[in-house]
Amino acid sequence: MRILLTGGAGYIGSHTAAVLAERGHEPVILDNFANAERDVPARLARLTGREIAVIEADIRDTEQVTAALRTQPVEAVIHFAALKAVGESEADPLRYYDMNIAGTIRLMQAMQAVGVGRIVFSSSATVYGQPESSPILEDAPTRVENIYGRTKLVMEDLIRDLARTGKLAGAANLRYFNPVGAHPSAMIGETPRGVPNNLMPYVTQVATGERAHLNVFGNDYPTRDGTGERDYIHVMDLAEAHALAVEHIAAHDVSVTVNLGTGRGTTVLELVRAFETTTGRKIPLVFAPRRPGDVASYYANPALAERLFGWRARRDVEDMCRDSWRWQASRAGINDV
Ligand code: NAD
Ligand code: UFG
Repeated sequence: MRILLTGGAGYIGSHTAAVLAERGHEPVILDNFANAERDVPARLARLTGREIAVIEADIRDTEQVTAALRTQPVEAVIHFAALKAVGESEADPLRYYDMNIAGTIRLMQAMQAVGVGRIVFSSSATVYGQPESSPILEDAPTRVENIYGRTKLVMEDLIRDLARTGKLAGAANLRYFNPVGAHPSAMIGETPRGVPNNLMPYVTQVATGERAHLNVFGNDYPTRDGTGERDYIHVMDLAEAHALAVEHIAAHDVSVTVNLGTGRGTTVLELVRAFETTTGRKIPLVFAPRRPGDVASYYANPALAERLFGWRARRDVEDMCRDSWRWQASRAGINDV
């Protein structure tokens, strides 16, 4: 299939482009490069041995996106483009509503104008808020606790409504747990701007010496060792799930909402120990107060993804640490990996 990837030059989008190309699909990247490096398409071309079409556009520009879809017809869209920082969403709500919700509406208008009726959407486990218990199933109550999360839920509802009313033939809302890792080639990966908010990029920057130590936010949670527990998922597993999801909705014309996680929880201390063992790098840490808004523990029940797509995560925490480190080390010019 020829598939448009909005935000395809970003972290998850670029890995998905690589996997789609490997599976014989033709990814077309649409990105405004607001949060992506310019040379990602060139790196993808080296990695896959194929030129990948790139449209530089903003999803909010319906006219430009419609025109692009007319010259580059596609059978489906995977919609990654969004703003994704929780703190920023609370500081600038209109920007988040505009980029995420208005942007998605504009994109759907362009899709409707050219008759593209299939979409895979990047949602997030953040829609579950503070879950009553884990593992979390897709029918657990949603309770968003910040504006970023609300935009994800509104976009999910919008997509479900369009599918229910026959305006979309197929749709998959994919709720990611905690994506980490990088392509094992270290040719693409995650490049957060400024001080990383998320655990793995912070850990890898401590390992390169860019940051002195890791602040562990809270060691008094009701978990095995008192630190926060999450369901980390390797970005390559996530990318493979997108390929299977788009193939599934194209084959069956269905609308589905599906968790993407491993089903296993890992605490902050467990992840740090795994990183140290896998890479041989020491991560100095300091216990700090809990981070406001953080949940003690959550992890997915990923059974639906297996039942529908035949997918399950194949990579473990050691793979995640090794590949995150390879990427960060290559960026930092460290060659002992
Ligand atoms: P990312 O920032 O690396 O990728 C997003 C891409 O979209 C970037 O390349 C950016 O330049 C592009 N973009 C942003 N606004 C755009 C616009 N208006 N028009 C065109 N392009 C635009 O983020 P990511 O981590 O790859 O996340 C991809 C998606 O997955 C997002 O929707 C995010 O909310 C969701 N998600 C991410 C995580 C995570 O932890 N990384 C977790 C759950 C869900
Ligand atoms: N943590 C630290 N120190 C740090 C960073 C994080 O101890 O420097 C801890 C957190 O307190 C938490 C765990 O590491 O216990 C994971 O934190 P992340 O920030 O990596 O991930 P979150 O689960 O908080 O949130 C991420 C994204 C959200 C998304 C959610 C679910 O940032 O946008 O996963 O997909 F909604």
